[in-house]
Amino acid sequence: MLIELPKHSEVFGSVKIYEVQKVLKLESGKVVSPLIRGFSRDELEDVFSRMAVIIPVKDERIHLFDGVIRSIPDGCRIIVVSNSRRIEQDMFKIECDIISNFHKVTGQNVTIVHQKDPGLSLAFKETEYNAILDRTGVVRDGKGEGMIVGTLLAKMFGCEYVGFVDADNYIPCSVNEYVRIYAGVLSLAETPYAMVRLHWRYKPKVIEDRLYFRKWGRVSEITNKYLNMLLSMKTGFETIIVKTGNAGEHAMTMNLAEIISFSTGFSVEPYQIVYLLEEFWNGETRFKDALSSGVSIYQVETINPHVHEEKGDEHVRDMLLSSLSVIYHSRFANDNLKLKIFEELKEQEIVKSRREIRRCMAMPPICDIDFKKFRDVFERYSETLKTFG
Ligand code: GDD
Repeated sequence: MLIELPKHSEVFGSVKIYEVQKVLKLESGKVVSPLIRGFSRDELEDVFSRMAVIIPVKDERIHLFDGVIRSIPDGCRIIVVSNSRRIEQDMFKIECDIISNFHKVTGQNVTIVHQKDPGLSLAFKETEYNAILDRTGVVRDGKGEGMIVGTLLAKMFGCEYVGFVDADNYIPCSVNEYVRIYAGVLSLAETPYAMVRLHWRYKPKVIEDRLYFRKWGRVSEITNKYLNMLLSMKTGFETIIVKTGNAGEHAMTMNLAEIISFSTGFSVEPYQIVYLLEEFWNGETRFKDALSSGVSIYQVETINPHVHEEKGDEHVRDMLLSSLSVIYHSRFANDNLKLKIFEELKEQEIVKSRREIRRCMAMPPICDIDFKKFRDVFERYSETLKTFG
């Protein structure tokens, strides 16, 4: 893979956000130059062997799930966290069968667990990580919740990197590209606390019987605008550096994954940026090593377009509300920014009053969990955990 190196970054305390880098070629030998970097197959494979690719899934079309599984580069450990239905048609069982066959044929390491596994809930209860549990004491629904479970599993396997890919992707080759980008870029990071977030070149949509290659998703354009406004208002210097506010496809070092806070549901990606700024801009963090080493956020534009399942207007509106609410409730948001966010949501007829912009729940970093205890309880009482290889 041949990739541009970023020429420019902006620094906010200990957080460095790099401008978007483009993938120039999917295959390459090793190239080292000040402007571009080519990764050989061996270099990427070395990182794959230390990386887990986490796939959160909830009732997706099985053809799409199957394609995503098959697209993960050899050598990566695949971790599926499923919140799919178990009654009537047992979707979780179908997912397990697909994985079992896939492992039989390819030998790739795959692990799957159900988000509502009683052993999982018990392990969180015993380690007092109650923020992830619902009122009945079971792990809550939500993509962010699934990502935490996946990250803990990756830690159990000793992985040094975690990458996230959605299960509803129509183009398996694009998923393969995403994971290669994760591996290449994270291997270049100059700090143990690094993250890479993807920006797709196009997000195609059918408009009047024709494929139209949109540049921006409906939610991401707006989220980016307000994240940049948050930065601009605090520094007094206008910026457009953030291009990946809603990047569902992203990866990070395990060092960062352990100290980052995940918020619930779909607010998870913009919240990561807000959290890192709140934690590491003014130096008020308990994570002193990350404060001195610095936290790097890379943004990469893919070659492949992103084609995923469209889940309807209501879903998009929910995602916009939760994305903007994390910015609205940020410690750094001033009254002016709050007013602009409220007006945006009102104009889009998503809220009528400010009270409806509720704070999304954030779950504490997983480094707070007594990991040995969590692992013991989870492995002992799990009913759905299956590891192939
Ligand atoms: N484990 C688990 N638990 N997975 C879930 C849950 C859950 O409760 N809810 C959804 N998922 C899975 C879906 O099956 C899919 O694989 C992934 O999480 C993303 O969910 P979608 O419902 O497909 O979201 P989207 O495609 O509209 O939005 C995606 O892109 C946005 C940026 O454009 C997501 O990745 C967003 O987080 C992202 O901001």
